[in-house]
Amino acid sequence: MVDLYQDSGEFLDVMSLGAWMALREPVRQALAGVASSSDPIVDLGAGSGLGVAVAAEVAPHVEILAVEPSPVQRAALHARLGMAADLMRRVTVVAGGAERFGLPDRIGAVLAINMIGHLAPAERRGLWRRLVGRLGDGAPLVVNLQPPAEPVAIAETVFGTVQVGRLRYEGSGSVEPAGADVVMWHMRYRVLDEGGDPVREFTADYPWHVLSVPQLVAELSAAGFLAQAGPLDVVRAVRA
Ligand SMILES: C[S@@+](CC[C@H](N)C(=O)[O-])C[C@H]1O[C@@H](n2cnc3c(N)ncnc32)[C@H](O)[C@@H]1O
Repeated sequence: MVDLYQDSGEFLDVMSLGAWMALREPVRQALAGVASSSDPIVDLGAGSGLGVAVAAEVAPHVEILAVEPSPVQRAALHARLGMAADLMRRVTVVAGGAERFGLPDRIGAVLAINMIGHLAPAERRGLWRRLVGRLGDGAPLVVNLQPPAEPVAIAETVFGTVQVGRLRYEGSGSVEPAGADVVMWHMRYRVLDEGGDPVREFTADYPWHVLSVPQLVAELSAAGFLAQAGPLDVVRAVRA
């Protein structure tokens, strides 16, 4: 399997800290109540574990399965787990993708944050079907969407900068339509010195399957969920 994050994985955790400051509360709210379940929480596309850390706070005694196909991202995830004995004890890292992961029979909650565009529509719908029977009463599936909601072009835009020591990391990206419901993201990462000159730069391209919040809600309803959109396009769905 190609690691789409082979290069960008170096930066993804630090570049995502700002976004997670905003996502943290909507995700915490969507997970309300899961602490009382003894069924595991599954974080699909867990990346470096920013969502795992939030889930672990919300549900301090619940096991977490962190599913992540990218070895680079898993390295960052393991580093995060290694900083906390509690996470080392409760989080199991599963090397693989959401499509083929052997889901446990009973699940207390599912997170799919900043990742659903990696799944093609048929894989996504297959995932909803596999999840719906495993989530207990009131157990939430929490999915967010990232723009664009339809296959449109977006000119290159800086989406984040972060200062690390003397260097500034800058992430930017542009979007090109690549089909009826897919775009190609062209990402550029630059490391800038104190004078603002690039000392390193690379690009990474990846396909992203797009959909809108109403489309996602309709798709989840068709799969047997009751879904509701909250702040930052965080959709919370429970078994109908
Ligand atoms: C933008 S990152 C988001 C990581 C994390 N959820 C977060 O919000 O910080 C997307 C993640 O999805 C993972 N991914 C890609 N394809 C996947 C798949 N088929 N199943 C599960 N995860 C996948 C990537 O390796 C990457 O770590």
